[in-house]
Amino acid sequence: MVPWWPHDGPMVAPRRVRERAAIGYTAARLMAVAIVTGSGGLIGSESVRFFAAQGFEVIGIENDMRARFFGPEASTAHVSQRLAREVDGFHSEPIDVRDRDDVDALLARHGSRIELIVHTAAQPSHDWAASDPETDFTVNANGTLNMLQAARAHAPDATFIFTSTNKVYGDRPNFLPLQELDTRLDLPTDHHWYAGIDTEMSIDTTTHSLFGVSKVAADLLVQEYGRYFGMPTVCFRGGCLTGPQHAGAQLHGFLSYLMRCTVTGAPYTVFGYGAKQVRDNIHAADVVRAFAAFHANPSAAAVYNLGGGRDCSVSMLEAIAACEAIAGRALDYRVSERARVGDHRWWISDLSAFQRDFPQWQLTFDIDAVLHDIYEHNAEAWTAQSTLA
Ligand SMILES: NC(=O)c1ccc[n+]([C@@H]2O[C@H](COP(=O)([O-])OP(=O)(O)OC[C@H]3O[C@@H](n4cnc5c(N)ncnc54)[C@H](O)[C@@H]3O)[C@@H](O)[C@H]2O)c1
Repeated sequence: MVPWWPHDGPMVAPRRVRERAAIGYTAARLMAVAIVTGSGGLIGSESVRFFAAQGFEVIGIENDMRARFFGPEASTAHVSQRLAREVDGFHSEPIDVRDRDDVDALLARHGSRIELIVHTAAQPSHDWAASDPETDFTVNANGTLNMLQAARAHAPDATFIFTSTNKVYGDRPNFLPLQELDTRLDLPTDHHWYAGIDTEMSIDTTTHSLFGVSKVAADLLVQEYGRYFGMPTVCFRGGCLTGPQHAGAQLHGFLSYLMRCTVTGAPYTVFGYGAKQVRDNIHAADVVRAFAAFHANPSAAAVYNLGGGRDCSVSMLEAIAACEAIAGRALDYRVSERARVGDHRWWISDLSAFQRDFPQWQLTFDIDAVLHDIYEHNAEAWTAQSTLA
C-alpha cells in the first residue's frame, strides 16, 4: 500500500487540517467523504482506489460522457462497474457535472463529511472541442463552476483538487528557440526552461484551442475560489497523464493509444512537426500521490505544473521506437504535415515548485516503466478484441 505521510512543509494549513492533526488523522478520516468526478476515467479511477485505500468513503460522479466524445471503445463504463465491484466504500452517481441541481443535491447530502473533492471530469481533447464548443465549454467551465459553488455552499473546508492542463499556456511553448535534433525538438541546454517550464509562462496572447480556453476558464475559477473565498484549492496543470487504465482513443490518451495500435497493428497518424514533438508523461499513480501530498497540507489557490519532467519526456519518434521494442512489432504509422491547432511542439513540466513545497513526493515511474505498465495490463485484451473485430 502507498504510505500516507504527514507533511511539515512551509505552507499554512487551514483550521480543519490542524484539527485533524490534533485528534489523530486516522480517526478523523473514518467518516470522511471524498468526491471524485470523472471517477471512471484515468485519473478519477486511480483516485478512487487510492483514497478508498486510505479509509475514505469515495463517491464518484460519472456519466460515461467519454463514450459520447470518442466512441464506444473509449467508454469508461466497464471501469466504473469494476470499481463498484472491487472497491469497498465506493459508489458512483450517474450525474452530469453540468447539472447544477444534481451536483448541489449530492454535495448537500454529504455536507461537512466531505473532506476532499477531486475534480477530473472533463472534455479533454483539442479537436473534439472545435467540433462542439458549447458542450466543451459547459462541461469544462460550467461543470467546474457547479462543483466549486456546491463545495462552497456545503463543504467549504474540503480540499478542492482540479486537474488543469498545460494547454492553459496555449501554443506559447511553440515559440521557444527549439532546435531540431535527430529524434526530437529540444531547447538549448543553457535555456532557463531546459529542465522544464514553470508557471511563470504567460497564458495571454497565444492560441489555446477551444479546449484550452474552457480549461483556462475553469483553472481561473478554481484559483479565484481559493483567493476570494479562502477555499483550499489547487490547479495541477498536467502534461501527459497516462497509465494502463486510460481508455486511449485517437483524439485523447496518446501513449495508451499508441501502444494499442502497435500491439494490434492498427494504423496510427502522427499530426505534424515531423513526429519530433516532445511530451512529458506522468503515471496516474504519481499524479494521485501528488493529490494526496497536497491534501495532507493544503493551501488556498495553489497552482503547479505537473508532468513527468525531463526524465520522463519522449518525442513521438522516441515513443514509437519504445512501443515497438516492448511489443516486439513495428507500428504502421504515417506523419501528417498538418499539426493540431494549438498543439505543443515541446512541453516539459518544471516540477521543482511542487517538489520544494512537498519534498516527500517524487516520481516513481520512469518512461520505460510507464510503457511496460500500459503494455502488460492491456496487450492480451487488446489482441483478443482486435481478433474478434
Ligand atoms: N490525460 C491527459 O493527458 C491529461 C493532460 C492534462 C490534463 N488532463 C485533465 O485531467 C483530467 C482527467 O483526465 P483523464 O485523462 O483522466 O480523462 P478521462 O477522459 O479518462 O476521464 C474523464 C472522465 O470524466 C467523465 N465525464 C466527462 N464529462 C462528464 C460530465 N459532464 N459529467 C460527469 N462525468 C463526465 C468521462 O466519462 C470520463 O470517464 C481532465 O480534466 C483532463 O482535462 C488530462
